[in-house]
Amino acid sequence: AWLLGLPAPLTLPTPDGILTPDTVHTCLANLAGRTGPLLLTATAGTTDSGAIDPLPALADIADRHGARFHIDAAYGGPLLFSDTHRTALHGLDRAHTVALDLHKLGWQPVAAGLLAVPDPTTLAPLAHQADYLNADDDTEAGLPDLLSRSLRTTRRPDILKIAVTLKALGRHGLGELIDRTLAAAQALADLIEAHPRYELHSRPTLSTVLFRPTGADHTTLATIRRTLLTDGQAVLGRATTPTGLWLKATLLNPHTQPGDLTTLLKLVEGHIPR
Ligand SMILES: Cc1ncc(COP(=O)(O)O)c(C=O)c1O
Repeated sequence: AWLLGLPAPLTLPTPDGILTPDTVHTCLANLAGRTGPLLLTATAGTTDSGAIDPLPALADIADRHGARFHIDAAYGGPLLFSDTHRTALHGLDRAHTVALDLHKLGWQPVAAGLLAVPDPTTLAPLAHQADYLNADDDTEAGLPDLLSRSLRTTRRPDILKIAVTLKALGRHGLGELIDRTLAAAQALADLIEAHPRYELHSRPTLSTVLFRPTGADHTTLATIRRTLLTDGQAVLGRATTPTGLWLKATLLNPHTQPGDLTTLLKLVEGHIPR
């Protein structure tokens, strides 16, 4: 919004880690008298916890207030490939625009993002004509006109690795990797719940598991993360929620074995002060 010179976005409180339909409704109702278009942005897989906003309820609210509806499905979007998990994305099809990214549940290095739209005319504002790039007669003769597909012109074509991934693995292949990765996250959550020295933030929605040694303070959590990182043993993130600071394990290796998860918990346990 800042780069495009748009009004500053309104951010809403998310005490449970997801947008609450009532809060969104009240916010849009308060904006009713204003002129100009409205855009409601939801997230399908937050970076902190992997939580998915209540998409159908938010789509209803966007409809009611005449707002465009965008979903950031960078993390959770690939669940569509899984027969087991795709229902978690119920309501995704009601968005006017969806951001997808294959850099987590798509196993590609950054950058691997794309904007998907159900109605191709949504991309019309991207159309741009420059004689030296896409002269009208060339476009009419059927030569590809990439200028109306992307803002990136001569930049790196990230779409290539996305296309290769989809072609090589297919819907089924990707779905299988996603099922295995999400199962590993559930297995880690089980181990944490059963462990007397750990607490689990919540059952994982995607492949992110938030946990901490029970009662650990900020300094302890920072020491654990930095020590495991500098020793080359594990890369753990961090997330702050209304219940404080948590260690964040984002599982992305579909070949993770139960023994790997126990090892991770043992490594962390080794740094809990007695
Ligand atoms: C939910 C979500 N959206 C977007 C992104 C990436 O955004 P960008 O491509 O702008 O860096 C991430 C990065 O991990 C993410 O987790």
